[in-house]
Order: sequence, then C-alpha cells, then structure tokens
Amino acid sequence: MKKITILLCFISAYGFSQQTPKPTGLVVTKAMVVSAREEASKIGADIMKKGGNAFDAMVGTELALAVAFPFAGNIGGGGFMVYRKANGEVGSLDYREKAPLAATKDMFLDKDGNVIKGKSTATALAVGVPGTIAGVFAVHKKLGSMPMSEILKPVIALAERGVIVTKKQEKSLKDYHESIVKINGESSDASRIFKENDTIKYAALANTLKRIQKNGRNEFYKGKTAKILVQYLKEKGGIITLQDLAKYEAKWRNPLQFTYKDLKITSMSPPSSGGICLAQILKMIEPYDLSKLGHNSDKSIQVIVEAERRAYADRSYFLGDPDFVKIPINELLADAYLKNRMSSFNVEKASLSSEIKEGKVNYNESTETTHYSIVDQFGNAVAATTTLNDGYGSKYYCDELGFFLNNEMDDFSAKPGSPNMFGLVGNEANSIAPQKRMLSSMTPTIVEKNGKLFMVVGTPGGSTIITSVLQTILNVYEYNFSMQEAVNAPRFHHQWLPDLITFEPDTFDAKTIERLKAKNYLINEKATPIIGKVDAILVLPNNNLEGGADFRGDDKAVGF
Ligand code: GLY
Repeated sequence: MKKITILLCFISAYGFSQQTPKPTGLVVTKAMVVSAREEASKIGADIMKKGGNAFDAMVGTELALAVAFPFAGNIGGGGFMVYRKANGEVGSLDYREKAPLAATKDMFLDKDGNVIKGKSTATALAVGVPGTIAGVFAVHKKLGSMPMSEILKPVIALAERGVIVTKKQEKSLKDYHESIVKINGESSDASRIFKENDTIKYAALANTLKRIQKNGRNEFYKGKTAKILVQYLKEKGGIITLQDLAKYEAKWRNPLQFTYKDLKITSMSPPSSGGICLAQILKMIEPYDLSKLGHNSDKSIQVIVEAERRAYADRSYFLGDPDFVKIPINELLADAYLKNRMSSFNVEKASLSSEIKEGKVNYNESTETTHYSIVDQFGNAVAATTTLNDGYGSKYYCDELGFFLNNEMDDFSAKPGSPNMFGLVGNEANSIAPQKRMLSSMTPTIVEKNGKLFMVVGTPGGSTIITSVLQTILNVYEYNFSMQEAVNAPRFHHQWLPDLITFEPDTFDAKTIERLKAKNYLINEKATPIIGKVDAILVLPNNNLEGGADFRGDDKAVGF
C-alpha cells in the first residue's frame, strides 16, 4: 500500500504549468544568434541585419566559430543541423565526419584484440573525413539567400584582424598546450602561448577561407586545400586520401519528430543518438509530474536518471550509422515498449545498470563540441552542433592550412563493450567500417508549442549533450524558468554505464544527494565537471526572443 501511495505521488495526468516567467536573458524583437563566442554570434546577427536569413547566418556563424573558437569550432570536423522554416517545414543535415576508405574494424586494436590506448584519439588515424565545408555549402545551396562570398567576407576579416583572447580561452590554451606541442612541435602556430587580451591572428586560415571563397566547396575536397591536407596527414601516418575527400557528401536526413505533452520536438536522427535518446527519455518521464516533484529534487532526479539509464542502454546496443545498420526506431519509440522499460523502476530503490540491458524489441564524450542557435526576422530557426570531438580535436594542426583536425574516429566503438574516451560503451552497430559515420550524441533540437516555434536548443558535452538538452527543455516547460535561468540551472547526468550520477560542482543540496544515496544511487564523487554549455533561444508569448547563453563558457547572445 505504501509503495502504491508513493508511486501515485510521482505520477500525474499532465500537471504542467502554464505561467510565463520573466525573461532574464537578452531580449530582442526580430533575430538572434547564441553561440560560444560573441564574435561568431555578431557575424551571424549582422548577416541577418543585412537581410540574410537564418541559413546564411548559420554558414557565417559556423565558419566564424572555426576562427574565434578553434577549441571546437572547425573546418576540420563535422556536425549536424536541424531547421524549421517559418512555414513549419522541418529538415536536418548530417555533415558528420566519415571513416576513411582504408579504415578497418580492428584498426585501434593490438594483436590480442585489445584497444591501444590513445590510438583513436591522439594519432593521425583518429581523424575522420571532415564534413563542415560540405555542410555549410549544402545549407547555402538549398536554403541560403545571400551570395556565399558576401557571407565569407566578415569571417575572413575576423581571421585577419584576429580574435582577442578571453580569460577562459587563456586557460584552455594553457591546459592543452602540452598535448598540442607534443603533436605539432614548438614551432607550430598552434603551439604559440597567448594571455588574456592578446590578439590571435589566423593568417593561414584566412588564406584557406579565401581560396574557398574563390573556388567554392571543391577547394576543400578536390582543390589545393585537399592536396595539402592529404599530404600533411600522410606525413603524420594518416590514411585519408584524395579519394576520401572527393567522395565526401553531406546528407539531408529526415529529422526525428515526437511529442512531449503539448510540445512537438524536432531533433537529430542517427547517426546521432541525440534525437532518439531524448525522445526515449522524455517519453519515459512523461507520466510523472515533474513540476510537482520539484526542480532538482531527489524524486525528480530519480525519475530522470532511471529514464536516462534505460535510454543509454538502448543507445549503446542499437544505434549506429543508418546507412550501415538497421535501427529499430519505431520499436524503440513505441509507447508500450517505453512503458515496459520503466516498469522495473522502483521509487524506493535505484535500479542497477548491471541489471538493465538493452530492451527486447523484435560515455564521457566531453565538453569539446559547440552548439549555436539562430532565429531570423522571417521566423526561420536553426539549431546546429559542430565538433572536433576532443578539445582541439586530435591536436593535429596543419600549419599551412591553419586549422585543427578532428579525432572523431574515437566515437566509433573500437571494440564492442569497451568504453571510448567519454566512457560510452558501444556495440557492433557502431563498429568501424570504411565510409561509415561514427555515432554521435549531438542533439540540435527545435521545440514547437501550439504549432508555433517555441525553443531552439543544443549544447556541447559529449554524452552529456542529450541530458543537458533534456534538462533545459524541462526547466522551461515544467519548472517555468526563463530561457537564461534554464541554461544557468545546475545540471546532473547519468548514462547507464558507468552506473553513476554526476552532479555539477557545489550546486546541489547535500541533503538531496544524501537522500539519493539512501536509495542506493551511486554518486560520482570524484568527477564534478561542468556539464554542457547550452545556447538556446526562447520565443516569448509576444514573439520577442529571449537568449540563453551559457555562463559556463564565453557564450553570448547577439540580436536585434
Ligand atoms: N564527438 C561528440 C559527439 O559527436 O557526440
């Protein structure tokens, strides 16, 4: 009887709140970009001010991040973009990196079949075929309105003029200096030491961008840039060939759409796990009255963690590149399946990840990705997440071209059952094969309410991306936070394996954590990193836009 009463207090018939919180972030009337750096947000916003649309701004912002935020912004990596046009039409682009033609399933294993530490992260073999330039050109061709050369102008000017080092950037350059020097040597441009308020000029990158401005997309995949890149990687022991570059295409995919109460959510489908995992978690928690249970209360955390545990177990088993493996998407998202998944949830005691396997249906990606959100003056919306994988990717920096290369090959499962650098355990579905795309957690997401654009949201954070996007949506919808408050709120994370809840440092009530421990939840006491850097836009009831720019980084909302 006691158990039933407790369960009933967790569950309700959609007790969601309808008040409108007072905005606390930047509010503008027409258009906005929120990204990891003010310089990039400004370039995107200026493009829209000149009459460009959100897709023109996407191209400008993405490339400006390659200049202003080389930590994760890139032309040597890849990403995913989800859009919603003013008329409600949605779509998504996959410009994720691909495994080179010469890649093999066992390329990161020794002769005994064990994973060779560092081979998939810090060697030239870690580099996947980059997709970013193909991505921005595909977006521009299908949806852009301004000439590409115009869009590139301020980006090239920024690279030539230089970017002022922030305090956080000084720290990141210092933290990564040793590993960058180890790969590139002291004389590389990438190994220079900068302090806060110094200006970093990117002359080589400016030249590469100028060639792309002149010769178009093929400059990167077939032109001089391609030849320099292949020669550079060959000298470093890499296997990417001119054929790999020439074959690369970004791919338009159907985004994943699902509902949560009266929200309609559009997110990225595989090869990102983001959309499916987000949908599974939201569907599993839908019957519970989170707003009544309270923001970041032990009971809310319990419900969310148990749903996360089950979704990440499925992620690990079923998900991979849909061009190579069959993913039972409908089955994984079926109401009956998800209800059954949560049937083992005991409100008085933690489930054990060792007892939760993938369902029967007939981590530590880190913070080094970057996300930006855009809404334009016409009502179009773009959510894009892009990455080099690790901070500064593989650390391989081609001095002649002026950019870092990704180490995205680590997002494959090098050996089924063995965790990658984010602690994520993968399976056959995500094994390495030539031309295959590695599974991602990137979750660029657009939310509609009552048929209208409501929120654009996403974040870096590897495996924590999905749970940070989830919490941001819940913070606004269930807990009535403003956009900026929703981004600021402390976050927690669980990803099935390791079976631990990670909390951001010094932000959660000690009593809440004690209550969770009393129910056998295992707490990650060693790691209390910041979780995610969410950049989001909320459409307010009067159609103004409120930005949520994450204080955890140098992130900034710019608009008009
Ligand atoms: N490399 C991080 C991700 O794709 O999820």
